[in-house]
Amino acid sequence: MDYVQQRVAQAVSNQEAASNAFLTPLNALLLCVLLYTAYAFLLRPGPSSAAAAQVPKEPPAIVFRTFTPRTLLPYNGENGGPVYLAVRGRVFDVSRGRNFYGPGGPYANFAGRDASRGLACGSFDESMLTKDLDGPLDPLDDLGPDQLEALKGWEQRFEEKYLVVGRLVAVGEEGKGEEKAE
Ligand code: HEM
Repeated sequence: MDYVQQRVAQAVSNQEAASNAFLTPLNALLLCVLLYTAYAFLLRPGPSSAAAAQVPKEPPAIVFRTFTPRTLLPYNGENGGPVYLAVRGRVFDVSRGRNFYGPGGPYANFAGRDASRGLACGSFDESMLTKDLDGPLDPLDDLGPDQLEALKGWEQRFEEKYLVVGRLVAVGEEGKGEEKAE
């Protein structure tokens, strides 16, 4: 009987010792580390929200504009500016192709110009470009089927590669298409 009481008392004191052992300074320190880690993972703003704050802004909206040969002229890529060219009344932003159309490029003659005739005829000749910037647009009505076919091919390429940013009209016709569209 004495033996049983002795063992029970021993077991109780072992248990107390074990629960006291749990409250050691080392365990307290480990608990602090654990709590801090949980806080860092769960509550602090993580890198994902920092990345969300750094999401690049959308590119500026493209405003569809009406150009005349004269107002198109400055878009020749000089001083790092955008490069536009027109094909059959549509103005393409060809800035992506700056190496072709920018200053010093092999097709720089088309930059800021109506390139329709030059593309159709496969010519860089000055005579291909609209001379009178305030006169009527080139009607292109003398082009043959092969030239029109070539022009269509270029248009298709541009449609795939570049954005249309406006239309080209003659001076005095700026408001005409818009009235019809409304
Ligand atoms: C000696 C004759 C020519 C050679 C060797 C030549 C060469 C080239 C080359 C290598 C490209 C790049 C193709 C690419 O990477 O997509 C190109 C594109 C082009 N070429 Fe020519 N070319 C010649 C004549 C012409 C002519 C006569 C015209 C029209 C007048 C012309 C207009 C263009 C245009 C508009 C582009 C497309 C640029 C773009 O993708 O925006 N080329 N040419």
